[in-house]
Amino acid sequence: MPPSRQVKDYIRTIVDFPHEGIFFRDVTTLFSDPRGFRMAIDQMLHPYAGERIDKVVGLEARGFILGGAIAHQLSVGFVPIRKKGKLPGPTISQDYKLEYGEAVVEIHDDAIRPGEKVLIVDDLLATGGTCAAAIKLIERLKGDIVSCAFVVDLPDLGGRKVLEAMGMDVHTLCT
Ligand code: PRP
Ligand code: HPA
Repeated sequence: MPPSRQVKDYIRTIVDFPHEGIFFRDVTTLFSDPRGFRMAIDQMLHPYAGERIDKVVGLEARGFILGGAIAHQLSVGFVPIRKKGKLPGPTISQDYKLEYGEAVVEIHDDAIRPGEKVLIVDDLLATGGTCAAAIKLIERLKGDIVSCAFVVDLPDLGGRKVLEAMGMDVHTLCT
């Protein structure tokens, strides 16, 4: 029997996107495959069996796709963290570093209640800058972060160490 396909096998690599020399890990091929997508959601949920989670926070944009499915599976609410200027209600903002320059992410200021148990979800962990900004936003709202879950870790970029240094539990499905 051929070995069964793993989550990693559904992820496509696009060479030279968005810049020359970048190997872009493209999870759209994982999301578009019914077995791959279900496998990813099931494996992302697995570490939290029996744990209390009140809200799933997804990071724009691919974290919305994963986070929505995970929140549905847990029967809890979903909260988006978006790039600046996209959320319609009152927000709080956090800046973070990109490879070139800076960016800002926002959350609605009433999206998390103090003490709520929060699971952060995104597709990919690179430098950890985006997730670190998300953590700061959730902590400013006094949410209690249970863990940060990703499909892909790019270990050379050091994101896991950054998040663990902030006291976070980190789960990834593949490197
Ligand atoms: C990608 C990815 C993560 C982030 C990881 O999103 O989906 O959110 O970068 O990088 P980091 O760990 O170095 O912060 P991107 O910023 O490209 O946004 P998009 O999903 O809206 O395209
Ligand atoms: N794929 C998706 N998002 C990313 C990547 C990648 O390879 N690198 C940094 N952000």
